[in-house]
Amino acid sequence: MSQEKAPQDTCVLVTGGAGFIGSHTVVELLEGGYEVVVVDNLCNSSEKALDRVDQIVGEEASQRLTFIRADVCDKDALDAIFEEFPIDRVIHFAGLKAVGESVSKPLEYYSNNLGSTFALLETMRAHGCKSIIFSSSATVYGDPDELPLTEASPKKNATNPYGWTKWMIEQILMDVAKADPEWDVVLLRYFNPIGAHESGLIGEDPKGIPNNLLPYVAQVAVGKREAVHVFGDDYDTPDGTGVRDYIHVVDLARGHVAALAWMNGRTGCEVFNLGTGNGTSVLQIIKAFGEACGHEVPYVIDPRRPGDVTANYADCTKARELMGWEAQFDIADMCRDSWNWQSHNPDGYGA
Ligand code: NAD
Ligand code: UD1
Repeated sequence: MSQEKAPQDTCVLVTGGAGFIGSHTVVELLEGGYEVVVVDNLCNSSEKALDRVDQIVGEEASQRLTFIRADVCDKDALDAIFEEFPIDRVIHFAGLKAVGESVSKPLEYYSNNLGSTFALLETMRAHGCKSIIFSSSATVYGDPDELPLTEASPKKNATNPYGWTKWMIEQILMDVAKADPEWDVVLLRYFNPIGAHESGLIGEDPKGIPNNLLPYVAQVAVGKREAVHVFGDDYDTPDGTGVRDYIHVVDLARGHVAALAWMNGRTGCEVFNLGTGNGTSVLQIIKAFGEACGHEVPYVIDPRRPGDVTANYADCTKARELMGWEAQFDIADMCRDSWNWQSHNPDGYGA
């Protein structure tokens, strides 16, 4: 059962901790006094991200970080980690996340995202660790009937295998918590994380052509690509382009620390939206980024991207009222930090 413990006595296993959201969360955990063990197979990340985390947090805090390169689907590797470290809680970021790729490689996505979760949950149970935060997504809400989205808004059918893995893992975790009241499970539904740590040392480093808007805009701004392709300007929104709830990745990372503090000693399963509550259109993002980087970002209008929803944004009252968490950064901050990262690391960690 989940014990009530102070951060300095709590060891957190972070799966996928070398990735975009994971690395920012590891910074916040170390700065919050936690012991951190990262397990990542580096299939979509670089160990350099964790070297940069060390740089950000400094020598004392970096002593509390251990990195293990392993696949979370590998139960023997997980078992060895739980044997070696007194893991109290788990934050499960590891997973494949490219929507388009998930359509062409469904087996790989189901196998990795579900397989890693099964291996993790079985190993946790075997070692008496029953406390987990899972990275879910606003994608589980599909095309919303009503905005803003609350945690009580209905889940809709996913439109791609990636979305289904989030949907299914949520269900699996709810069932696990229902069957065994010793578990404490928090499902965090992220809206659209962007930005980077203010140091410019860590940030998003997508491989190949970015699928998501912000990394694409940043690569155009830095001169790596010609123009942003705006996917549709005929939506029923004020300027015709899609509207999303963009959230600074550092705010999102702090949401995990708030969740850990809130869970402390609690049991059951709870769902939280993590967003800002504000909707921003594609054209507003392109304009804000232009202001952050000091020159206009060129764009062209393309047809809609299949599967895209018109608009979504969160109601985050529940996270504020229960966990005392609220996003602090606005779109200008997000674009400034994203540009700081991109302009200092035009080739990401590969430079
Ligand atoms: P990311 O790809 O940067 O990080 C995921 C990490 O998991 C990577 O470091 C990758 O190497 C690792 N990984 C994947 N499969 C693994 C395995 N089997 N074993 C060990 N390591 C493995 O992605 P991110 O943006 O940081 O996303 C983190 C989590 O949040 C993911 O589960 C993602 O689906 C979810 N999420 C992300 C977004 C977003 O917009 N970035 C939105 C909603 C939810
Ligand atoms: C996408 C995924 C979603 C996933 C999330 C985080 C799709 C359909 N949805 O969300 O399942 O949880 O990423 O990884 O892929 N846009 C452009 N030009 C671009 C890229 C995007 O105009 O080059 C627009 C989109 O149409 C959308 C907005 O920008 O209106 C945001 O897109 P994106 O960053 O891909 O996020 P989502 O589609 O919200």
